[in-house]
Amino acid sequence: MVSLVVLGAQWGDEGKAKIVDLLAEKADYVVRYQGGNNAGHTVTANGKKYKFHLVPSGILYSGKKCLIGNGTVIDPKALLSEMQALENDGLDLTSLKISPLAHVTMPYHILIDAAQEEARGENKIGTTVRGIGPTYADKISRTGIRIKDILDETLLRTRLEAVLPEKNAILSKLYNKPELDLENILETYLAYGHSLRPFITDVSLDLFNAAKNEENILFEGAQGTLLDIDHGTYPFVTSSNPIAGGATIGTGVGPLAINAVIGVAKAFTTRVGEGPFPTQLDGDLAKILVAEGTPWAEFGTTTGRARKVGWLDLVLLKLAVRVSSISSFALTKLDVLDDMETIQACIAYKNKKTGEVYHDFPLCEDMANLEPVYKEFAGWKNERSRCRDARSRKDLPANAKEYLNFIEETLGVSIDIIGVGPDREEIIIDKSPFQARSLV
Ligand code: GDP
Ligand code: IMO
Ligand code: MG
Repeated sequence: MVSLVVLGAQWGDEGKAKIVDLLAEKADYVVRYQGGNNAGHTVTANGKKYKFHLVPSGILYSGKKCLIGNGTVIDPKALLSEMQALENDGLDLTSLKISPLAHVTMPYHILIDAAQEEARGENKIGTTVRGIGPTYADKISRTGIRIKDILDETLLRTRLEAVLPEKNAILSKLYNKPELDLENILETYLAYGHSLRPFITDVSLDLFNAAKNEENILFEGAQGTLLDIDHGTYPFVTSSNPIAGGATIGTGVGPLAINAVIGVAKAFTTRVGEGPFPTQLDGDLAKILVAEGTPWAEFGTTTGRARKVGWLDLVLLKLAVRVSSISSFALTKLDVLDDMETIQACIAYKNKKTGEVYHDFPLCEDMANLEPVYKEFAGWKNERSRCRDARSRKDLPANAKEYLNFIEETLGVSIDIIGVGPDREEIIIDKSPFQARSLV
């Protein structure tokens, strides 16, 4: 039995879904542990592009048990419409199961998310406006509504009577928005509860039994390490814990139940939304990294916003390795660097005023005062081979191999999987994490 976490090591959109899809073939369970429909996970397979927001990407293989854990937040309307779209695509959803302990995104969460962003003005976070922050805030304030509450009229009425007056006061008095009607919400959410009832399961117990039965479990992270509410670039973060520890809290398994952690990182860096981004680029180099004009151009899967792009930041990846015990890397989008003359990787930060150099992420420095210290690599534009054509590590251009070797040495972690294109087949698997317990 192998139990693996696949998580984002940067600011999200690293290509996690493609790696989950690849590994799902050998998994028995694929489990989402945090986040909600702020996630946008793309898998290109069978000549088609599938987009997932809440449903685990493992659903593309029939017979895999796909679970949504207690650490997620669920907008039932969004989940049901995602499920409908996947069924219309011919996928079988009978193996999809949901924890009754997951919190529900209610209509006021989405309205408050939008109103808060508007009120922040220039200091906005750039959220996906899916109500994620307000839903998690209510969970922590103990004023949340859980999936189990929308299965029962008396329970839901009691919860709404306790919570809605305060939400309506916030909406009307603070943000000048119309108030919401309790009966209306009650009726709509009970109907959602009715539709979701067949999918409810005790995720923690299912995973405990799966481990006893020696079954393989894959935890699918959403967002990324630098969007983590505790370890990310606060306040420009999401409201959950995408790091590996989130998988235990968000599904109800203990930390010893996890044997390996795969960090997914792009061969460069991207970010959507606001917040610091030390290695960000603009101009012609950015155009290459954005992959302008290609089907895999950098636009958000959920919101369609353009992603900001920049060089690989090894200081931030070192942080990701440390906080999640990353045991191997999947490096995606190496093909996008095929057209670069030279490539840079950030190996440290320097304080522009004091000259102090940091090789590890400095927690008490204002990121605006830091500039990246780069190591330059020759590109492989003029070599005969291209990353996008390689299917084994030895076939990669020599300069690309040098770049990978340097990343591995700096991080002290091997790159076992390399993405060289968006399709399922465009991948190099140097060592499969399911090969054995060698990664433990
Ligand atoms: P996720 O949120 O981490 O699952 O990533 P997204 O799906 O939001 O964004 C990743 C994008 O990169 C998608 O359009 C993928 O199809 C694409 N992609 C993934 N791996 C590769 C790769 O190795 N090369 C290229 N060119 N595209 C990739
Ligand atoms: P996947 O799973 C990239 C970003 C938003 C914003 C911040 C807070 O596809 O990698 P939120 O709506 O969560 O309150 O927004 O987090 N963000 C993501 N960026 N990929 C994601 O998910 C993201 N989910 C949220 O852009 O900056
Ligand atoms: Mg994404």
